Amino acid sequence: MAAISFQQVSKTYRSKGGHNEVRALSEVSMDIEPGEFFGLLGPNGAGKTTLISILAGLSQATSGHVKVHGHDVVDDYAAARRSLGIVPQELVFDPFFTVREALVIQSGYFGVRGNDAWIDELLHHLGLADKANANMRQLSGGMKRRVLVAQALVHRPPVIVLDEPTAGVDVELRQTLWHFIARLNKEGHTVLLTTHYLEEAEALCNRIAMLKQGRVVALDRTSALLAGTASTMLRFKMDAPLPASLAAQSRVTGRIVQIKAHDAHEVETVLGVLRAAGCQPEDLEIGRADLEDVFLDIMNGPAEVKA
Ligand SMILES: Nc1ncnc2c1ncn2[C@@H]1O[C@H](COP(=O)(O)OP(=O)(O)OP(=O)(O)O)[C@@H](O)[C@H]1O
Ligand SMILES: [Mg+2]
Repeated sequence: MAAISFQQVSKTYRSKGGHNEVRALSEVSMDIEPGEFFGLLGPNGAGKTTLISILAGLSQATSGHVKVHGHDVVDDYAAARRSLGIVPQELVFDPFFTVREALVIQSGYFGVRGNDAWIDELLHHLGLADKANANMRQLSGGMKRRVLVAQALVHRPPVIVLDEPTAGVDVELRQTLWHFIARLNKEGHTVLLTTHYLEEAEALCNRIAMLKQGRVVALDRTSALLAGTASTMLRFKMDAPLPASLAAQSRVTGRIVQIKAHDAHEVETVLGVLRAAGCQPEDLEIGRADLEDVFLDIMNGPAEVKA
């Protein structure tokens, strides 16, 4: 049985009076198997948080069904919700409690008593041990996010859902967090992750779905997605404008230029064009295409459905 099953999920937001409609999700179907580390990627507004809100029972799908370990998130809400630990994208917290109180209250919400040993372990692994008695409102943004992660995990949910958990957090926490989440995944927990840090997704996720304007436009093993793209990337810095003949296969970010090539012959051709145009690339590197290249290829292509 799938850990999470999305079946033909559509969501239309209607404004009051029904004048404006936003179709946030269109017929999203996918199954995430137990033990997977699954990445849900897509640009701002693609529908990732909407899909997670429906999974969490915070929002109702306009049509379609979502199940967690076979429990429908609407008809069997309590069982579905108990199987989930959700780290929301927005920082929501109650400013009147200390970190430990917030975790004890959250445990109580799931009917878990005598949870102190696990709470201590969570505090330790998330680098919060010295903040246990601090008031929530005294914490920095990154610290609050750590508490949200701890809160999601108090009842040891088999399925962990993280909506951009590393947005705005420092390098150290990202490493601590991934170390801990990867351990939980090894121990059998299923993980669903959304992130805009594609190198994190590439490193962690065994399978990835990409959403574009509410539709699934790619769904495959991470290795298969990487194998499906032009294999080589030239990366360098340059002040002069790029020759127009290279524009179609290039991406320019400030001074940084990245050019796709399929093979060594194409690499030579690109270098020849640059030389002929009098361009002087600095810090030239030739490397493998990464998930960011795949992502941009897919997002800039036509919105076809490939689920
Ligand atoms: N409560 C709401 N009412 C109306 N429209 C909404 C609401 N929530 C989201 N939307 C719209 O639904 C679409 C999908 O939004 P969603 O938050 O799911 O995107 P996302 O993929 O999570 O984006 P991001 O990467 O920015 O977090 C957007 O067009 C958004 O404006
Ligand atoms: Mg979002």
